[in-house]
Amino acid sequence: MNRIYLDYSATTPLDPRVMEAMASVFAHTFGNASSVHSFGREARTILEGSRESVARSIGARLDEVFFTSGGTEADNHAIKGLAAAGARKGKNEIVTSTVEHHAVLLPVEALQKAGFDVKFVPVDGFGRVDPADVKKSLGSKTALVSLMYANNEIGTINDIRAIGAIAREAGIPLHSDTVQAAGKIAVDVNELNVDVLSISAHKFYGPKGIGAIYIRKGTQIDSFVQGGAQESNRRAGTENVPLAVGFAKASELGQESLQHNLSHVTVLKDHLRNLLESQFKGLLFNGHPTDCLPHILNISFDSSVAELDGDALIMGMDLKGVAVTSGSACTSGSLQASHVLLAIGRNEQTARSTIRFSLGRDTTMQELDFAVAALKEVVGRAQKAGIYG
Ligand SMILES: Cc1ncc(COP(=O)(O)O)c(C=O)c1O
Repeated sequence: MNRIYLDYSATTPLDPRVMEAMASVFAHTFGNASSVHSFGREARTILEGSRESVARSIGARLDEVFFTSGGTEADNHAIKGLAAAGARKGKNEIVTSTVEHHAVLLPVEALQKAGFDVKFVPVDGFGRVDPADVKKSLGSKTALVSLMYANNEIGTINDIRAIGAIAREAGIPLHSDTVQAAGKIAVDVNELNVDVLSISAHKFYGPKGIGAIYIRKGTQIDSFVQGGAQESNRRAGTENVPLAVGFAKASELGQESLQHNLSHVTVLKDHLRNLLESQFKGLLFNGHPTDCLPHILNISFDSSVAELDGDALIMGMDLKGVAVTSGSACTSGSLQASHVLLAIGRNEQTARSTIRFSLGRDTTMQELDFAVAALKEVVGRAQKAGIYG
């Protein structure tokens, strides 16, 4: 069976050029980057070269980028590290939103249990935060603001630049989760006015298991993993030099092809949207129509029209060889409607009848035509009244 991958937001395939760059380091450079002998120095040189590439890709300085095990660790480091530093100055409030990734929401929840107050800035029907609401929520006790640049489920882009200016004026550090945006749209730490930022290599054709936290010089933030003095004492543990090389290569390639990929997926997404609109009457499109990542298209079947189970649709699509994602998450073995879709005002049943398509540089028109035809069949079979068919 011909398989079609339309889940590029979950992860992307490894670019063969990234693989090649890593293979050579895996094969020849085993030294510990902290060792003073020649083996160590060789690894260190390669590591710092990789850091430079990653830093350049986000407009950061070399000494402001620290490797982590991925986006989740970078988010945890940002939230817990900024909160701990703030707490020492008597600040015990966190400002965030309800549509953040769980890598932000769960550390925030843990801090709430430990005594922090959390203010959730509301989002509109597109999942966007109003910078004016952020301003209203800041106070003398605010330790940090954490708001994502682009949402991983519906693609909506926040005005982080404006939010960053507000936070800076108030003297409060801003963290932004840019894991989903990096490699898809330009991410520049100075353009965005952020103090701390998270990125992850596997979202843009790099390896899994490596990401980075950007920390603007002068930001008060505690280290996260304690142990050795690696990563300038910010993140202990022997550095993974081959993965850092892969991350750097993916960043370089991502920069080179950003415009091309952006145009490619924009055309494809328009095609997909038109096709879906023509095939399914009354479909709901989630996320902002224009301020949105170019590769994500998230749809819901309105529960007042027909009850469709998103996970059954996903499985039906998978049987036809098409990989897409639903709007639910498995928490403790039970399927829950997406917190993002509920936050933008979808009811539970509609939120459960959701499919996220996410496109990539290898996606073709033919694949999308096939996917929509497959969905038509799967939906036709799943619904009794045939309203969407
Ligand atoms: C917005 C966002 N934040 C954080 C993460 C976690 O990144 P990682 O998979 O590198 O831990 C993801 C991954 O899906 C994401 O989309």
